[in-house]
Amino acid sequence: MALTTITPRVKGKVSLCMESKAPPCAMVVFGASGDLTRRKLLTGFFELAKRGLLDERMYILGCGRTHYSDDEFRAVAKESITKKTDMPDGDLDKFLQRLHYVSGDYKDPKFYEDIKKALSGADAQHFQPGPYIFYLALPPELFPVVLEHIGCSGLKAPDQRPLSRIVVEKPFGHDYNSAVELNKLIRSHVGESQIYRIDHYLAKETVQNILIFRFANSIFEPVWNRNYIDHVQITIAESIGVEHRAGYYDTAGALRDIFQNHMLQVLSLIGMEPPASFEADRIRDEKVKLFRSIRPIETAKVVRGQYIEGIVKDKTVPGYRQEPGVRPDSNIETYAAAKLYIDNWRWKGVPFYLRTGKRLSRQVSEIAITFKQVPHLLFESSGIGKLDPTVLVIEIQPNEGISLSFQAKSPGAKTCISQLSMAFTYKDVFKADLPDAYERVLLDCMSGDQTLFTRTEDVEIAWQLLEPVLEKWASDGDKGLEFYPAGSDNFAIADVLMQTDDRLWRPI
Ligand SMILES: NC(=O)c1ccc[n+]([C@@H]2O[C@H](COP(=O)([O-])OP(=O)(O)OC[C@H]3O[C@@H](n4cnc5c(N)ncnc54)[C@H](OP(=O)(O)O)[C@@H]3O)[C@@H](O)[C@H]2O)c1
Repeated sequence: MALTTITPRVKGKVSLCMESKAPPCAMVVFGASGDLTRRKLLTGFFELAKRGLLDERMYILGCGRTHYSDDEFRAVAKESITKKTDMPDGDLDKFLQRLHYVSGDYKDPKFYEDIKKALSGADAQHFQPGPYIFYLALPPELFPVVLEHIGCSGLKAPDQRPLSRIVVEKPFGHDYNSAVELNKLIRSHVGESQIYRIDHYLAKETVQNILIFRFANSIFEPVWNRNYIDHVQITIAESIGVEHRAGYYDTAGALRDIFQNHMLQVLSLIGMEPPASFEADRIRDEKVKLFRSIRPIETAKVVRGQYIEGIVKDKTVPGYRQEPGVRPDSNIETYAAAKLYIDNWRWKGVPFYLRTGKRLSRQVSEIAITFKQVPHLLFESSGIGKLDPTVLVIEIQPNEGISLSFQAKSPGAKTCISQLSMAFTYKDVFKADLPDAYERVLLDCMSGDQTLFTRTEDVEIAWQLLEPVLEKWASDGDKGLEFYPAGSDNFAIADVLMQTDDRLWRPI
């Protein structure tokens, strides 16, 4: 790791920051005319350039079916970037010179010959000596054809260059078998160290903070186990509906879209054992170990729902089946909740409750760790009944931060107890907007750091865990699918999942 800086960023405190400029590379983006490239990748690269983290020789080659000249692609990029960020024109003009574009048909070998020529021209123009990084910002059905061509056209192993890398967007497969097939296909062309499977959720500052919080402080580790923790709730709630993603979402649903990847990945960071070091493979080893300890999911302990018309933020919104692009008799779940157990020494008997849904009352993603009640309550003789437990909440979005609630004496009567909270938010403390997760993802794949990318085993185990549920739901049709009005906080079958354990969901 090259650059180590100690930067005072918070009044009276010092932040230890390590960030290195990425080595030179050519980023070859397939699907460069698409939504992801416009909204996230181009703006992400630009932000990295502004922060001085792009090598001067690095360039981006956009590839797509839509025809653009280099200048037209630069104009698209300029529009997307100026929508999101303010900057002196000079910075942007300089950045735009890094952009090139080639159009063609993904199935046609000539397209890949054209890409090769464009790379060789751009390498010469930018004096770029580094690897080619192929980023598949494409609908998943196009992954196999593009991968085959990258593998067979000679693009993956150009002469005299470091090994190429392949970046694959989520969703990685549709079920266990398709994920295994996709893994086989990629690995028939490149090794695991060259594959970057994206789960951009892992790159959010607050998700990354889980590891720092757990392993850079000594006070949490002794209580981070079944002796002190009663249960864990992980929530990813959205107030939005399917928006423009109906075509994809109506074949996926909440379990595939959020649960299989983001939720299980967050669970693994909360539950894993301390890795031997902060190296990518040591962290990924521990995640896989954790995944292997998750008890096979009881299908009865996973519930699903779908939103119907309702009111969100004072506006009436249509039901899922009325959304454009959704089948009018769709059984796809827009809400899923589950109870999981991790069968190891640390977590035996501690339930992990996970829920995710669209069109809920508000957007919030959080992890709430509820600690056990004290073993003996001293204050019962004073007429004080059961106290609320201590809860540690890591809020991933929208108010990124951490809070710890606990009991304290309030002024006045001799025995007067209130629940208080110690809280910090990133905005208040660091006084800056958090970088978009894609900036982290892009920087890491250029730097060859795979820590935040998923490995073959975790993707496959995650699918394997959910397979019985997916199969049951596919055969059950409407049976067991509960309908909830848009704007709900919760609904009956999900509540029952908690109430049978004498617990409640946290309010959304
Ligand atoms: N958008 C997001 O915010 C987001 C977030 C997370 C993950 N992702 C993932 O990122 C990938 C790309 O997402 P996206 O939203 O950018 O997708 P998109 O806009 O629907 O498609 C990306 C590009 O793929 C090409 N394409 C689409 N269908 C095609 C077809 N049948 N044949 C040939 N080319 C086709 C189109 O480019 P041309 O017309 O130029 O060929 C399109 O611009 C997906 O895997 C998605 O799941 C997206």
